[in-house]
Amino acid sequence: MPEEEILPLRRALLAWYRQNRRDLPWRKDHDAYRVWVSEIMLQQTRVAAVLEHYRLFLEAFPSIEVLAADEESQVLARWSGLGYYRRARLLHKAARTVMRELGGNIPENAAGLRRLEGVGRYTAAAIASIACGEAVAVVDGNVERVLARLDGRPREGEAVWQRAQELLDPRHAGDWNQAMMELGAMVCTPRAPQCLACPVHEWCRAPGADTSRAQEERKRVRMARALVTNAGRVYLAQREAGASKMAGMWELPELASGAERDGEVLCTLRHSITDTDYEVHIVALPLRLLKAAEKRGGRWVDVANLAKLPLTGLTRKALRRQGLLA
Ligand code: ADE
Repeated sequence: MPEEEILPLRRALLAWYRQNRRDLPWRKDHDAYRVWVSEIMLQQTRVAAVLEHYRLFLEAFPSIEVLAADEESQVLARWSGLGYYRRARLLHKAARTVMRELGGNIPENAAGLRRLEGVGRYTAAAIASIACGEAVAVVDGNVERVLARLDGRPREGEAVWQRAQELLDPRHAGDWNQAMMELGAMVCTPRAPQCLACPVHEWCRAPGADTSRAQEERKRVRMARALVTNAGRVYLAQREAGASKMAGMWELPELASGAERDGEVLCTLRHSITDTDYEVHIVALPLRLLKAAEKRGGRWVDVANLAKLPLTGLTRKALRRQGLLA
């Protein structure tokens, strides 16, 4: 695209964004901590799923000082339901790094931000541009698709970042990056894109082109979890500290056989994590019917204390469904 076309394209997209952007809580100010939290939560997670978690997380940890000072288990508890808990652990670590090594000052450019735990190229560029106005472009799935259609050909790897950087409006980097992502999320969608409503359609070489890679095969897994209750308490098991996923979090014991055995199936939940769709039977059982391995890491928890524990998303869903958790 020739340089003289880039200026009107920038103008058109920014004008559209300023008129049409969703009113999202992290767009209310440009505070680096709040932008940071939002960008970490938005990784692999849809905006709708993030909104309420974001509000509650910032209520609990209104500043980086408060976040750094609290225990990891408390941070994980507040992350419960968002999944990909590594993000929360690294955010907490990074907050401590900022307090300990940087006197509480979050770096103001992408290079400095990238040295923090859990902050990759995308996140560093997002925070630096949105909170500090640095002229660095972001690339995520939405941006990649928008660029592929605009230019009429997909690019890969470093070439995508370079192209994103060429188009970036350096004087409005934060709005520009968010405008590209917003366009991809609201108009230039993977399926059924709204080309008629697109502010930059006149520059688009491949309107609505299919840019999807072959869908990765999703796995389907069935399992059963035990809901063991007694006198206002629930029996929960803690995942091993060395587990590769959700280490140290609390969950309903998994029934080894996957069968319902002698209990009553209370409900069946669907739960998706990464590339696996789980169908989970929640089975009411007395503790004596659990095998030794199923009780491992377990203890009784008062129903009133459930909300304070870092629960896995599936467990939270099950407890809610059974009216044991608000
Ligand atoms: N996805 C991740 N961060 C975003 C942002 N700031 N605006 C729009 N979409 C996003």
